[in-house]
Amino acid sequence: MIIRPVSSADAAVFQEIMKTSIAALCASAYGTKATAAWVSGDNPVFHFQVPEFAFVAEKDGEIIAACGWSLTDKVDLHPVGDRIIENPTHARINAVYIKPGFEGHGLGRKMMAHLEADIARRTELRDIYLWATKNAIPFYLAMGYQPGIDEYPEVAAGFKIQVRYMWKRLG
Ligand SMILES: CC(C)(COP(=O)(O)OP(=O)(O)OC[C@H]1O[C@@H](n2cnc3c(N)ncnc32)[C@H](O)[C@@H]1OP(=O)(O)O)[C@@H](O)C(=O)NCCC(=O)NCCS
Repeated sequence: MIIRPVSSADAAVFQEIMKTSIAALCASAYGTKATAAWVSGDNPVFHFQVPEFAFVAEKDGEIIAACGWSLTDKVDLHPVGDRIIENPTHARINAVYIKPGFEGHGLGRKMMAHLEADIARRTELRDIYLWATKNAIPFYLAMGYQPGIDEYPEVAAGFKIQVRYMWKRLG
């Protein structure tokens, strides 16, 4: 298994992993109606963007996980989009998505270690935050992230989901 940067050829697979992972692994937390609406192809509310610094895990030619982070200058629920961040203060981990069937074997932990090492290598930033979906809170706690407030963003028309702000300061 290798973890490597995303190439432009991987974008569609990256987005597919985000969607299948949410549909399969977040449904227990939010229900299948909400996750189906969230990942639906014609959902105008939520955009499955590939993060600024994005990586995939590949095993025997198959992409089995996707993850990424971005620079930001404020702690914010919504991604900053294409705005240029001149003075970043935080690294935001946009998320880690494991392809269904490959979860529970330490891959999420490896992806997080890779992201944190990339942030520390590429920047002086040590403050990391993310918005955890309810199903992923125990995972991020296991990765050393502290829990903060909850927010309820709309991920599809009529569907607001609970997400939890979590943060970590790299040592
Ligand atoms: C959340 C997710 C990334 C975890 O990845 P994973 O590969 O299954 O996690 P790992 O096997 O690396 O687990 C790492 C640690 O977290 C713990 N953990 C993971 N899920 C857990 C859970 N639901 N409850 C308790 N502990 C959990 C594991 O016990 C493990 O601890 P250990 O290393 O001390 O034994 C994966 O389930 C996923 O892709 N979910 C769907 C997409 C998603 O929700 N992404 C996050 C959105 S913010």
